[in-house]
Amino acid sequence: MQIIITGATGQLGGLILENLLQKMPAGQIIAGVRDPDKTAELRQLGLETRIVNYDVQDTLDKAFVDVTKLLLISSPHTDDTVWLAQHLRVIDAAQRAGVDHMLYTSFAFSQKGKSDNVHSLTEQAIQDSGLRYTFLRNALYIDFVNVLGLKEAVSSGVLTTLPGNWRFNAVSRSDLALATAAILAHSGPENQSYELTASQTWTFDNLAKALSGLAGKPVIHREDPEIQHWIYNFLSTIDTVSTTTDLERWMGREVTPLKESILPFIRPQEKRTLLD
Ligand SMILES: NC(=O)c1ccc[n+]([C@@H]2O[C@H](COP(=O)([O-])OP(=O)(O)OC[C@H]3O[C@@H](n4cnc5c(N)ncnc54)[C@H](OP(=O)(O)O)[C@@H]3O)[C@@H](O)[C@H]2O)c1
Repeated sequence: MQIIITGATGQLGGLILENLLQKMPAGQIIAGVRDPDKTAELRQLGLETRIVNYDVQDTLDKAFVDVTKLLLISSPHTDDTVWLAQHLRVIDAAQRAGVDHMLYTSFAFSQKGKSDNVHSLTEQAIQDSGLRYTFLRNALYIDFVNVLGLKEAVSSGVLTTLPGNWRFNAVSRSDLALATAAILAHSGPENQSYELTASQTWTFDNLAKALSGLAGKPVIHREDPEIQHWIYNFLSTIDTVSTTTDLERWMGREVTPLKESILPFIRPQEKRTLLD
């Protein structure tokens, strides 16, 4: 079996590789990399690297030769038209190459919103292609908390947010990567969708408490209706509230506690790299 992971130089891709290497031999894993200058670290881990550029059909045709499973990590492109075209190009190439099973990192509960979002359209295209599929519908990355001014909250003792009934199913990339590696290494599961969210939501009160624990001093949560920040508009367009136990089931453990998940945003030096 040969598994290829696209976007392997990205944050999620790197964490998935790290977990997958603990479950199967490096010789069965191919890292799909856009930039040829970024292959050295991956080769050092014993991985084959192939160039995968979502904008260049030829790279996809070559990269998917003899691949059994393909994990398409969704592109970070910000223009929806280009973004979808990139994914469709990957799906076409997978079909032509005779890939057996395609996995796609989608977004949790995106089907509940407008049906013409890129994740839903990509899932539809994969289903229409006739490829066996697994949709990994990832929750919002917990990193969004970083734009809320966590360090300022620690130094002032106050976490200030916009009033509202905010609740979050957000999780760390590390948890998503652990579940994704387990799914990739499994002989199934075909034609399934998983909503990879926290099993219980957390609130800004919980976040302030976690900050207190990390800072070793009180941090209270206060609401301010005058706050203007793009993040609240964004958060109100997605489903941050619905939960499932899919993520915990595939990880084989509970999601990482909030306090531990936000640690890298308070003490960035404690972040690890693939080769640590
Ligand atoms: N669930 C969420 O909250 C959330 C939040 C943000 C993003 N996302 C989605 O999750 C994906 C993975 O997240 P991440 O944190 O790993 O993102 P990331 O660190 O930005 O990594 C993106 C990866 O995509 C690669 N890439 C970019 N353009 C490409 C192209 N044209 N062809 C092939 N590869 C290309 C990058 O390659 P280079 O190293 O060459 O740049 C990199 O490996 C993102 O791309 C985005 O679609 C989800």
